[in-house]
Amino acid sequence: MKQLGVLAIGIALGLGTSLAVDKAGSIEQKTKVHRLASTKRAVYDAFVYANRIPEKAEEGEAASDLAGRILGRLANQEGRVLLKVPPGMDRAAYEGYKTFLRDEGPSSVGNCIACHTPPQFTDGKAPSLRNLGPRKVDLQKVLRAKLTARAEKQDGYAATKISPKDLPSLLAFLKTLNDVPEDQFRDLIVKAQVLDTTEEYQPDP
Ligand code: HEC
Repeated sequence: MKQLGVLAIGIALGLGTSLAVDKAGSIEQKTKVHRLASTKRAVYDAFVYANRIPEKAEEGEAASDLAGRILGRLANQEGRVLLKVPPGMDRAAYEGYKTFLRDEGPSSVGNCIACHTPPQFTDGKAPSLRNLGPRKVDLQKVLRAKLTARAEKQDGYAATKISPKDLPSLLAFLKTLNDVPEDQFRDLIVKAQVLDTTEEYQPDP
């Protein structure tokens, strides 16, 4: 398993297909990460790079279509046992990410992406969810309010189906949106490991 992970990372670093190679030139030299074009430095960004997840919507693409595209990519990576997570992103955070993206299904449907859309996790009206850590937002309180938003039929929450058991993983995911210092970012990519998702996720009660 470990070897597989190292191999996969080798391939990701060697053949990374981020476009914008020109722009990437100097960033690539600075970070020594092949074809890294993004200047964003959160654990989440290392995850996106390592798994070649779409960073943002295409021109005119709805958030729900972007979410579908990302979930498809994740399922594919999981299926091939190639899903790699950097240090700082565990199973809970990964499951929180999927809850964040989902807009249908029986449970753990956050549909958060509808208003908090990558890459900045905002739609221009809702605040960006990047770097909440230093801003000392009471996340427990905010997320508990999201739990009741649907029951209260608040605008935009019709698709949301979350319960208290989803909150720890959503919180864990939000933490991956905090930036790390520039000199630690490369390490996140190099040390990314394959995540075993074969067993069904059981959140702590
Ligand atoms: C209908 C649009 C909408 C949806 C869906 C939505 N949010 Fe929000 N979110 C907002 C708006 C608007 C605010 C700012 C006002 C507030 O705090 O309610 C906000 C605030 C937040 C904050 C606090 C940010 C800060 O800087 O204070 C967090 C964290 C957050 N949302 C996470 C989530 C998560 C996680 C989900 C999915 C379960 C989600 N949101 C779904 C619109 C949305």
